[in-house]
Amino acid sequence: MSDRIVSVGEGVWNVRGSFRIAKVLDIGTQCTLIRRPSGGFLMLDAYTLTGEVLDQVVALTEDGKLLEAVLHTHPFHTIHVKRFAERFPQAKQYGTRRHVAKAPEVRWEAEHTEDEALHALFADELRFSVPRGVDFVPENEKLHFASVLVKHPASGVLHVDDTIMYNQLPVVGGYSFHPTLKQVLQPRAGAAAEFRAWCEELVAFCADVTQVCPAHIHLPSKAEPGAVADEIRKVVAKAESLIAAHEKRFG
Ligand SMILES: [Fe+2]
Repeated sequence: MSDRIVSVGEGVWNVRGSFRIAKVLDIGTQCTLIRRPSGGFLMLDAYTLTGEVLDQVVALTEDGKLLEAVLHTHPFHTIHVKRFAERFPQAKQYGTRRHVAKAPEVRWEAEHTEDEALHALFADELRFSVPRGVDFVPENEKLHFASVLVKHPASGVLHVDDTIMYNQLPVVGGYSFHPTLKQVLQPRAGAAAEFRAWCEELVAFCADVTQVCPAHIHLPSKAEPGAVADEIRKVVAKAESLIAAHEKRFG
């Protein structure tokens, strides 16, 4: 899969990069560039940009001079963090606590992307949603369910790494939660109820989303208003039996 940059909305570009599992299967990875009303730019997640994709980002951001901040959204998506920070050192770097712990040499801002304090900083342009009732950074690093979902209301773009996935395969295609949901639901009373409440919020959060940018596999095409929320409602309905079983076990 060769890297490409896709215009996904007014002032928003999604980079579709390469990420190989076991060096063979390329499931892809992403970052999203957003133009701010001020003319500056934000990057959601990081990727080692090369070739024409780098050229385009360099042209848009005047070689990074206009890139004001990078926001990392998935605690286990870390491989491009240092290289991106080196390439665009003038941008403020915001990560989850795990990003900060994993790359202490990067000059991090104090706010973490999973926290309200950061969400408040960008509240004029972005909306954030963080799953509740689940482990955000589980001990098992293969459990990628949780991340910080970021919405750009001006364009209707939702940038989401892993928590919500999408593929265009026949029969089994469409949106889904990351398959590790069951393993990250916290084994305690109340966790199922918290997660269910977050699911309801997520459907409402998606009401004005018309373009989802998922980290891996396929990029869905732009949707009619309301269609994404309808799809996410179905995803949530499918998860209910799992949530109910968890609630029965732990309360
Ligand atoms: Fe992932």
